[in-house]
Amino acid sequence: MSIIYDSQTKCFNLSNDRISYVIRMAADLYPLHLYWGKRVRRISDKMVSRRMQDGYPQSDEKFSLHETPLDHLPQECPTYGVGDLREGMLHVIHQDGTHALDLRYASHEIIEGKPELPGLPSARGDKAQTLILTLADALSGIRVKLYYTIYEDLDVIARSALIENGGDAPAVIDRAYSACVDFEYSDYTLMTMSGAWARERQLYTRKIAPGEQGVSSARGASSVQTSPFMALLASNTNEDAGDVYGFALCYSGGFKATVEVDQNWSARAMIGIQPFNFNWTLEPGASFQTPEAYLCYSPDGLNGMSQNFHKLVHRRITTGKYAGSKRPILINNWEATYFNFNEEKLVALAARAKKAGIDLFVLDDGWFGHRDADNSSLGDWFDDKRKLPNGIAGLSEKIHALGMKFGLWVEPEMISPDSELYRAHPDWCIHAGEYIRVESRHQLTLDMSRQDVQDYVVEAITAAMKRGNVDYVKWDMNRFITMWGSEQLPAQRQQELGHRYILGLYSVMRRIIEKYPDVLFESCAGGGGRYDLGMMCLMPQAWTTDDTDAHMRCRIQYSTSMVFPQSCMGAHVSAVPNHQTGRSTPLATRAAVAMGGTYGYELNLLELPDEEIEEIAKLTDKVRGMQELLLYGTFFRLKSPYEGNQTAWMCVSEDKKEAIVTHVFTLGQPNPKDVRLTLRGLDPELDYQDVETGAIYGGDELMLHGIIVKKPWGDYCSEQFHLKAL
Ligand code: GLA
Repeated sequence: MSIIYDSQTKCFNLSNDRISYVIRMAADLYPLHLYWGKRVRRISDKMVSRRMQDGYPQSDEKFSLHETPLDHLPQECPTYGVGDLREGMLHVIHQDGTHALDLRYASHEIIEGKPELPGLPSARGDKAQTLILTLADALSGIRVKLYYTIYEDLDVIARSALIENGGDAPAVIDRAYSACVDFEYSDYTLMTMSGAWARERQLYTRKIAPGEQGVSSARGASSVQTSPFMALLASNTNEDAGDVYGFALCYSGGFKATVEVDQNWSARAMIGIQPFNFNWTLEPGASFQTPEAYLCYSPDGLNGMSQNFHKLVHRRITTGKYAGSKRPILINNWEATYFNFNEEKLVALAARAKKAGIDLFVLDDGWFGHRDADNSSLGDWFDDKRKLPNGIAGLSEKIHALGMKFGLWVEPEMISPDSELYRAHPDWCIHAGEYIRVESRHQLTLDMSRQDVQDYVVEAITAAMKRGNVDYVKWDMNRFITMWGSEQLPAQRQQELGHRYILGLYSVMRRIIEKYPDVLFESCAGGGGRYDLGMMCLMPQAWTTDDTDAHMRCRIQYSTSMVFPQSCMGAHVSAVPNHQTGRSTPLATRAAVAMGGTYGYELNLLELPDEEIEEIAKLTDKVRGMQELLLYGTFFRLKSPYEGNQTAWMCVSEDKKEAIVTHVFTLGQPNPKDVRLTLRGLDPELDYQDVETGAIYGGDELMLHGIIVKKPWGDYCSEQFHLKAL
């Protein structure tokens, strides 16, 4: 791995053994994007197209801004107006209201590792080098440091920008994306994920065309409606082959991921903070750090891209005791009881769960204030003694006495208008002056940009965690932000609130997590509403969706795996008929699908006969035995539920000696036939034994000829193959 500057060709070449990213200076003034793809030693002048050559002159004299070359050139940090009329990566408004920004090369530095980003989560920087390219606007004194990190062992480039005001007048940052890549051509298909509550992250693909296309969230969170991710796929790309360029953002707030195809059929791809409802005043001497973006190239199709992202998450994103290790198998009481529980019922449920081999009992919503429905008490984090006469302390003691761990649900960022907290501090919620306080799920959002609110949340949540002696926390967030406004921000800084909220949230989470390093934290946002790499830096797993229906889960987990590994995906076996869809699926299928994530249960075990509890105990045992493989194995998608009647995926251990394959048919069919499923990632030279049947197959045979999946009988039937090398 190295970053080399060649003064002859004026190129920065960031390469590891597999990929390269090449930047070329135009006349020592503007950094232009030259190449991103498989490793290349250099790119000579002759390889540069005519249009590019005009824009890549060898000397300053030949380069003239009079011909507006920048509108035709692939840039690394474009700004609007200096000859380039596409949307730029940065847009700054000066004190006099004008907004030209002529960012030219000032200096560069190549350092070992990667600087931490102030206030923001980011990937760790070991086995990495970073190019810091500083550009400056001479007239205003605005400087931009572009960070590019290349890793020895990851096919990912981390990018971000630090914007500094070195002038003597304040300036307003009107937009600041984290990364921009100008592709010379636009022969790509764009892949994004969009959805809604209980049907998050559905995959969408379309050919890109002249104009702007992409996804964004202005909801104050990365959202259930879409995801801070996009990928550009070269033609004929599939799961196993083809050039894929993935972009993902390490940020939990509003974002935008956009591709603009211009007059020359070039494609400008950018990702970063949502520019709408955002600006940031930079006083002289102040700086602004953008979140980190990950640019992930794979020549091996979508599976290749996902495996790169998964490695990034496992090796540089998740932290703490549970990153890289087994997770407790849990039962959550939400779908078992909703708000209707008492200590006796919970302890009985836990005891039954213990019989089924379950490790951790999680008490969900409804244990505090007087919360019998979703219309009160958020913010009042004291025990409801009507339901829990001995408080969470007494319940926790009983759960621990069963030999189980105890976990607790909290929703720290929220406040119910019907709460003691709201009656004491009506100014603590986000609200726009005298305008109506628009509620969602009967609740308002605390203003996490305020220090007093942050301190209250840390204090109240850590007190509950201490009282309950908790081993696990589910951190929920059940509404998006409306009627933006903070009582503590001056008028010109009101549009900073979205980002300040997220900075406040990260700070609060860090303070709590640092105090309880042994606790497992799972993030949640009305299901999968904050499913982003920023959250994963803080909490190693996230509730994937409130939809626990195995059929819908096939779709949601399939697409979630585009970026996130199985170790991040909360996945539970729930009751039938399913509470979100009314659909009934076999227990084996519900379990097989939940094995595609951090496995758990969410149903009333007290209603199940003993035989089913025994079956559940067997499943729990099976998962426990294979958990490392299930959570951290190399993941391959085999059959897409978006394309047909089957879903299939598999994970393979790093040494290729063990694999687990999951196959689900959607609907039963008349006169069906068996299916041949070709596997991936095995060692062709090894023989593998099917643990269940004892049958032996060659790795080559399994990957070329395929394994036979029994024809479907009924709807949603599934089969799993556990293979071990002999
Ligand atoms: C959200 C979560 C659920 C559950 C409820 C409780 O919807 O996603 O899992 O915790 O809140 O109110």
